[in-house]
Amino acid sequence: MAREVLYRKIANTIEGQIASETLKIGDKLPSIRTVQKIYEVSLNTVKQAFLELESKSLIESRPKSGYYVSRSFSRRLAVPSVSTPKLSEKAYQPEDLISRVFDTLSDSSITKFSLGVADNSMVPIAKLNKSMLKVLRSMSDSGTAYEPVQGSVNLRRNISKWSFVWGGQLVEDDIVTTSGALNSIFNCLLAVTQPGDCIAIESPIYFGILQMIQSLGLKIIELPTNPITGIEIEALKKVLPKIKVCLLVSNFNNPLGSCMPDEHKKEVVRMLAARHIPLIEDDLYGDLYFGTSRPAPCKLYDEEGLVMWCGSFSKTLAPGYRVGWVAPGKFKDKIIRQKMLQTISNPPLQAEAIADFLEHGRYDHHLRTLRSKLYSNCLQYQRAVEDYFPECTKISKPQGGFVLWLELDQGIDTAALYETAIKHKISFAPGRMFTQHNQFNNCMRLNFGLKWDKQLDFDLKKLGQIVKNSL
Ligand SMILES: Cc1ncc(COP(=O)(O)O)c(C=O)c1O
Repeated sequence: MAREVLYRKIANTIEGQIASETLKIGDKLPSIRTVQKIYEVSLNTVKQAFLELESKSLIESRPKSGYYVSRSFSRRLAVPSVSTPKLSEKAYQPEDLISRVFDTLSDSSITKFSLGVADNSMVPIAKLNKSMLKVLRSMSDSGTAYEPVQGSVNLRRNISKWSFVWGGQLVEDDIVTTSGALNSIFNCLLAVTQPGDCIAIESPIYFGILQMIQSLGLKIIELPTNPITGIEIEALKKVLPKIKVCLLVSNFNNPLGSCMPDEHKKEVVRMLAARHIPLIEDDLYGDLYFGTSRPAPCKLYDEEGLVMWCGSFSKTLAPGYRVGWVAPGKFKDKIIRQKMLQTISNPPLQAEAIADFLEHGRYDHHLRTLRSKLYSNCLQYQRAVEDYFPECTKISKPQGGFVLWLELDQGIDTAALYETAIKHKISFAPGRMFTQHNQFNNCMRLNFGLKWDKQLDFDLKKLGQIVKNSL
């Protein structure tokens, strides 16, 4: 068996024992040498397995004593309820609240649990700079010329190559590059809708998507969404006769963290295809999984070319580079024509730098480290919320991405709570930002992609106290 497989086998066995509480917090693990003998592997393989468990904060080493279980999987806090959007209610977007939260983003004295990106310390800036300098030197025009409208061939080839991680059969010609995932979504919406058409989406949903859909004059149907498995299929089935298009954040949705099981993805693709309804799939968090493999997108099950698979490097590498893509299936020509009208082409340097980063295996390497840090942070945050927030708090259980969704006591208004928190130099994203209806007022989204340290733990404690005081 390959060494990588062996170390995972050992790590998974121990993780399973911690999950079943066969190994409890504080229990001592067998020594590295004992495990080595049992599995008949090298010391390094066992060390790697222990390192993986340590990076997930499941075990810790104590000097001259060995390894101990450092946390349990047993959860005191429940998972948030399945959402039940009130479709009859008048729709309006909380623009003021969104601006209020955005206004504080440039203030460096604030701990920004409200942010929608991972901390700079998790971004491989030096390596990206290296790729940028390399492409600047190697391009005969130093990146000053227009790219092909469809986008950099190198980038498209690397994105299509990367799709093998979920079993994708894409080729470079299937991809159109864009200025980020939101720009991909905009182009997809433009390609398949007219003002007045109806669109089905998850609820809650990233406010940028809501605002964009509204700006195009579409009618939004927010559907019940399960914090673990995503959109409720029965609810989607009922609105099929009304909708022109469906949009889903299939893997690690923002803000719920839900990930649709493969069976749901297949069923949704089948249901929509039966009525020739396109699906815009926003999959920009898919590479940030905590499990053993990347969840496939709905695109994997698309036989009709109706799934428009959108992604970007904003959440994994560099939001400022504005490099995204769409595999638009049968709408490709329309999307390319639209891109031609809007921008002619994208800036080449960022696209080539990212293509270089992928080409040389740096993306894969970076993602391994990033995922492990994010998972470890996720556990730390969950532990902190369990310790510091009121007993009635419900907390999501994302299997990837970097946001947590908290449902607080019904009596709490997180928009009002935001004003108190900001006086203590703490910001978060109030739940009302993620819907057009009067709901999720007692919810908040927390970014766990910030660098974990004592101060962050202290700030979560402070936030928990602010919540308790408001009860
Ligand atoms: C679900 C979702 N889609 C799209 C975006 C925007 O992505 P990009 O910066 O690539 O346009 C975000 C950003 O937070 C998001 O959460």
